[in-house]
Amino acid sequence: MHDFGYDVADYKDVDPVFGSLGDFDSLVEAAHTRGIDVLLDLVPCHTSIEHPWFREHPDWYIWRDEPNNWLSAFGGSAWSPLDGRYYLHSFYPEQPDLDWRNPEVVAAMQDVLRFWLERGAAGYRVDAIDRLLKDPQLRDDPPAAEPFGLPLSKEEAQLSLAHSRNAPDTGEALARIRAAVGERFMVGEVYLPARRWQPYLDAFDAVFAFELLHAAWDAEELRTAIAETTRERGAAWVLSNHDFGRLVTRFGADNARAAALLLLTLPGTAFLYQGDEIGQADGPGGERRYDRAGRDRFRHPMQWDSSPGGGFTGGEPWLPLVDPSQVNVEAQRDDPASTLTLVRELIRLRRSLPREFRLLDAADGVVAYARGDYLIAVNTTGEPLAVPRGAELVLETEAGVLEGDVLAAHGAAITGG
Ligand code: NOJ
Repeated sequence: MHDFGYDVADYKDVDPVFGSLGDFDSLVEAAHTRGIDVLLDLVPCHTSIEHPWFREHPDWYIWRDEPNNWLSAFGGSAWSPLDGRYYLHSFYPEQPDLDWRNPEVVAAMQDVLRFWLERGAAGYRVDAIDRLLKDPQLRDDPPAAEPFGLPLSKEEAQLSLAHSRNAPDTGEALARIRAAVGERFMVGEVYLPARRWQPYLDAFDAVFAFELLHAAWDAEELRTAIAETTRERGAAWVLSNHDFGRLVTRFGADNARAAALLLLTLPGTAFLYQGDEIGQADGPGGERRYDRAGRDRFRHPMQWDSSPGGGFTGGEPWLPLVDPSQVNVEAQRDDPASTLTLVRELIRLRRSLPREFRLLDAADGVVAYARGDYLIAVNTTGEPLAVPRGAELVLETEAGVLEGDVLAAHGAAITGG
């Protein structure tokens, strides 16, 4: 738990704080009986420093006599000293990077990939995959020549990041991952702008769209991110997750429903972070019980009912519940005006949206697009605005937000015909 589970000490077991392999099996079975598939989040590019491999196979990791200028994602050098040498860690020092140029590492990880598929996993979210292969000579990152295209720390933005990640032959290592996974689904967490997705899309089914995730709730920014990303096929849209917090906190309670409508009507795969279906907020700031980088506040348990444990647990949760008496699934399940009902209707509707996608011209402050005959309009502002619309109203964020062609402040609507 140096990184809330992203520091794996055994790839073929469940940490006892979460349960057992038997619990995993029951979870998969219970999900299957409800028509739900389970994807696992796999970190192939680094282990925990506590993984036996780090002691037993030091040659599976990346070492140097002296650090180069590569930076850790969490700040400072990506190298830490050990026994007179330095090992590479693209993230926390407790997360040493594996050397994917070593065939033994590839074989060991292929074995892990097969293990969970045989146990019933439907596929993987493959973590931090742009860090899989680095420059074989471990050369310094040169100074930045052009903007990276996604937010970076001040230190990182000075460098081109050309050697510390995303090596030109990354596609070959990705193909080894695909070979072990067969036809099952894989989405890659690739911290690169969409125009650099190609090798990842060749191997994976989808790639997380970080341009959208980083856009502010501003029509111009959202439109640019969507335009850049829809040039590629294979976008996995995401507006919130365990690293960036939930919709209500990120965009404001007023905009959270419109954000969910946008997320669930874009063309491609959509990832809705647990809690967002009911408009759950992030926890209080300043909490650093598990994560030094301050992300605990995004990771409070799901609120199923109004009991103190939120129906999530009768025991002691890893973090307290935020506000189960105010926001919970039970209270929203049968309420036609609830966020949960809206999200369910959106999920039902998205299955019938045609693939075809076109961004539409619209007033400042409005994001509008067509999916075949359906028109989607989102008002990102606090003022009513005229929007493009079709003859019939299909769904709106709240009853009455679309009147004629005027969309109320913070509203979003789908029309057709
Ligand atoms: C990406 C994960 O989303 C993040 O939570 C984690 O800290 C890093 N990978 C390091 O594994």
